[in-house]
Amino acid sequence: MLKIGHRGAKGYEPENTIASFQKAIDMQVDGIELDVHLSADGHLMVLHDDTIDRTTNGKGAVNTLSLLELKTFRIAGIHEIPTLTEVLDLVNQNVLVNIELKSYETAEKVITTIEQYILDKNGDYSHFLVSSFDWNALQQIRFLNAKIPIGILTETNLDLAFSVAKFMKAEAIHPYFHLLTKENTAQIQEKGIQVFPWTINTLEDIQKIKSFNVNGIITDFPDRI
Ligand code: G3P
Ligand code: CA
Repeated sequence: MLKIGHRGAKGYEPENTIASFQKAIDMQVDGIELDVHLSADGHLMVLHDDTIDRTTNGKGAVNTLSLLELKTFRIAGIHEIPTLTEVLDLVNQNVLVNIELKSYETAEKVITTIEQYILDKNGDYSHFLVSSFDWNALQQIRFLNAKIPIGILTETNLDLAFSVAKFMKAEAIHPYFHLLTKENTAQIQEKGIQVFPWTINTLEDIQKIKSFNVNGIITDFPDRI
């Protein structure tokens, strides 16, 4: 069962920062989860929201600001918003990278970034897992490069996500953890699809979800797994 750090180790460091991803690696995760948006000039930026208002000292929509502009703002006073390439360089293929597409527009750039990375580092697609609530974005990934593993994210409808996962031959489903039971987890896995629920933080919930034999747990507190 994989231990996957949500936005790095969000429980310990500011989310989606190099410090947070390093903390997760120090806590011996098997993978990290991160979110991507496009900057105005087409760079993949690692942050959760579509604006920089909540997490940085700046204001504005990510897709209206250039890479250089975005790099001038600070998270918790000191951290920069990382690019996807910076995070991939930090990880250096030592753990799985679960890239969550926060918009359809990110799909093509994520594909070219992964392809270029694999080419440069003689890497492997098994180190990547691309997920999204926007299933059309995942369809686009599948259509353009079927070697990239995909995960169907759902907050509300596991049955529909399961049908879509089978149709798209997805490698994984990423459900909100309250949607899971031991039975439906087994049903999904019988079809060869992995189950990666999120975001499980309390010891009680961790214990319960572990008992369902899921393939991995996405958590803000990797050391609790
Ligand atoms: O990928 C799982 C989880 O991160 C989805 O929700 O809002 O934390 O991106 P959110
Ligand atoms: Ca996410």
